[in-house]
Amino acid sequence: MTKLTVNDRPVEYRMDPETPLLWALRDASNLTGTKYGCGNGDCGACIVDIDGTAIRSCLVTLAEVEGRFVTTIEALSRDRSHPVQQAMVAEQAIQCGFCTPGIVMAASALLRRNDRPSDADIDEAIQNICRCGVYPRLREAIKRAARVARREERISAAPPPGISPADAAEAVPSLTAPAPTQNEPTE
Ligand code: FES
Ligand code: FES
Repeated sequence: MTKLTVNDRPVEYRMDPETPLLWALRDASNLTGTKYGCGNGDCGACIVDIDGTAIRSCLVTLAEVEGRFVTTIEALSRDRSHPVQQAMVAEQAIQCGFCTPGIVMAASALLRRNDRPSDADIDEAIQNICRCGVYPRLREAIKRAARVARREERISAAPPPGISPADAAEAVPSLTAPAPTQNEPTE
């Protein structure tokens, strides 16, 4: 059994500890926003945030994330209001969208450590593969997201989710918290 925190909720995975985190998230937790592209670390479609760092979830095992904090695209914002999400829509940097969650997670991690990234910074941090070739728009979107994060600009381009934000996070069968032990406070 592997215990970690996923999207701010404690989770126990009763899976082989050598299972890649990607499959635990997708198959056990139904967090399918994290995509499977290549499975060998090349494409970046599977990037999630682990303790503040953008990491390819196909390359890390459950055992390696024991006790760590994992955030997936589903929890980056409840209403798609994160500056990167809004700027990706506003700059039309999404075509088929398959690469988008991994790119958004990588870009959000970049902006946390660098609120004024240059083209070179973006190219170095975002090495995701996009089969649709959104790269030029992607650079503009990330620079625009940085301006929004610095409160120099506002965007209201991202439409609200088609489902309740609460449902999006709650209707995940395997993301139930373990039963509280004695003396442990309940919500
Ligand atoms: S699926 Fe992980 S890098 Fe491609
Ligand atoms: S938008 Fe289609 S793969 Fe990137």
